[in-house]
This record gives sequence, C-alpha cells and structure tokens, in this order.
Amino acid sequence: MKQIIRTLEWKKNYLEILDQSSLPAIERYINLRTIEEVYKAIKTLKIRGAPAIGLAASFGLLLAAKKVYKKERNEFFDTMKKSIKFIKGCRPTAFNLFYGVDRLQSIIENNSMLTPSEIVAKMEDECKKMFDEDLESCSAIAKHGEKLIKNGMRILTHCNAGALATSGIGTALAPIYLASEKGKDLTVFVDETRPVLQGARLTMWELKKAGIKSILICDNMAGFLMKQGKIDLVITGADRIARNGDTANKIGTYSVAVLAKHHKIPFYVAAPFSTFDFSLSDGTRIPIEHRDGEEIECIMGKRITPTHIYVYNPAFDITPFSLIAGFITEKGIFSPSDLTKLKK
Ligand code: MRU
Repeated sequence: MKQIIRTLEWKKNYLEILDQSSLPAIERYINLRTIEEVYKAIKTLKIRGAPAIGLAASFGLLLAAKKVYKKERNEFFDTMKKSIKFIKGCRPTAFNLFYGVDRLQSIIENNSMLTPSEIVAKMEDECKKMFDEDLESCSAIAKHGEKLIKNGMRILTHCNAGALATSGIGTALAPIYLASEKGKDLTVFVDETRPVLQGARLTMWELKKAGIKSILICDNMAGFLMKQGKIDLVITGADRIARNGDTANKIGTYSVAVLAKHHKIPFYVAAPFSTFDFSLSDGTRIPIEHRDGEEIECIMGKRITPTHIYVYNPAFDITPFSLIAGFITEKGIFSPSDLTKLKK
C-alpha cells in the first residue's frame, strides 16, 4: 500500500513532524531539535496518536543523547537518566511512549561498557528499527483487518487512528485503506471526537486525501445511526490495552462500544503489540490523562462557554474487554480471551 502521509521523519540531527495542531487548515512541517521541543510538541498535540507519540518520544531521547555524548561519561549517563524521566512525563496513557523509551533505556543499560558515542549509534539504530517496525505493523494490521470488511460495508471510527498516528498507514484506518484499494465499496462514518476534534480535523482530512467515501457525524449521533441500521462495523485504535483486553482509547470510545453492543454491531480495536501493556491485569490500572478545561471551553481558540466555570476533561476512557469483538494486530486477530494466552 502506498504511504499517503508522512507524519514524522528522522533527519539525522533533528526530527521533522507534520504539525497536526494546525490541520486541516495549514499543512506545515516543523523541525524539533531538542528533547524539550519534542516534549512540547507531544503535549500540545502537534504530534499525537499512540504509536507516533512513542516514536517521537524515542527520537526525543536520541536528541538528548546526541547533545551530551561528547561530554564527560558520567554526565552522559546522568543526562540520559533525567531525560528518560522527563520524556516519560509528557503524556501518561499511550503505552507506546513507555514501550519505546524503555527499549532505548535497555540499549543504554546493556551497553554501559561502550563509549557514549557508540551507545548513541546503537540508540539511533534502535529508533530507526522501531520506526520501521511500526510501519510494517500497520501494513500487517491492514492485511488482517481487511478480511473483516465486506463489500458495501459502512464502518464507524472514532478519533484518529490513521497514518497521522503512526509511521505507516495507521491502525484502525489501515484495513479501510486496503479494502478500498482492493476495490471494495465502503463508507466510513467519522465521529467528530470532541473536544479536540481529531475525527473532524484529522480523520476527515486523511480519508478525503485518500479518496475514501467518508461522512462526518457529531459524537452524539452514532446511536441514532446504529438504530437506523446504518453501521455494520466499528473499528477504533487504542492507547493502551491491559492483559485482560480492557482498552484505553480517546474519550467517547466507551460510549460507542456500549452502543455497538446494544445494536449487535461488531466492535474491533486495531493496535500493534507495542500498545499492549501486559504488566497491567485490567483497565482500572491504566493512567488516564486529564487535560486543560480550555479544550472544552474553546473550539479552535474561540471561547464558546462563560468564563470561570468548572470543566471535567478526561482525554481517554476505558472500554471493557466484554464489549470488544477482537483485536486486529500485526500478528492476526485475537479475541479478548486469546490475549491471556499471549506474550509479546
Ligand atoms: O489524544 P490523542 O489524539 O493522542 O488520542 C489518540 C487516540 O485516542 C487514538 O485512537 C490512539 O492513540 C490510537 S492511534 C493509532
């Protein structure tokens, strides 16, 4: 499948990213040259989506390493320790961030007998490897998930789990891209995804670019569409999946899953294994990010509420495994009960 969007690219001494905060109005690439710039870009959703966050954070750690590798040995290891803690603090929910940074931490620890310069070279190789692995996972997810999509299907998705969220063609959108490429006639209903509108701004932009028939709906319309028999399948992405299959994803995913169950519509989660956190027995242990209330009070910078009000803004919710028909992964499709038998 051809890559339609370049979300992030390592340029040897800096990371280039497509600034998602200004999409779809402005398509602009920005360069991140320090770990602090990467941290800020992740925090402000210039780069977002679990796999892309994991990759950006890893490249951010690499940038920090490149800055100090010529300094005194102890300073290198000390800076790495602080930088790992720092970058892990940028967003708590997406497991890919911890997965990526932990892989680099192992490289540093397992090669502590080498010079910092040699360690940095190994870290760079590992970052590139993770980038390629994510790209390949997306293609494999496409291949497995495409089989679920029959000609004429109407699919609902929530948030953005497309190319913009990965180094490849996405997770939830990957099977859709492949099914469309194979000539299947399909329609994608896209939840706008309040408050940050990843569906309206990003998924609609991606699907339009790919020439896929897509229809935007407000989040509160999904139930009515299901009742009318207008949805055949739901596919979303994930930020973190616990051992029992409980899944954290963008706020509103849980409501969609409940509605899908009620209307007997299969609800699938597409995610690479880098999103599975087998250390957590269930979803109650997944940390949920709470974001600034201003995201709800304002739409694209314009205030829509009175000032000085109380706002509650969890960015993610947990969908219990019992509502999930299956996980579309790079290794195949698994039911929640299969997961307990799996290891990474
Ligand atoms: O806050 P965001 O935009 O980073 O949230 C993104 C999502 O919830 C996605 O569905 C998830 O990360 C999967 S991306 C392949």
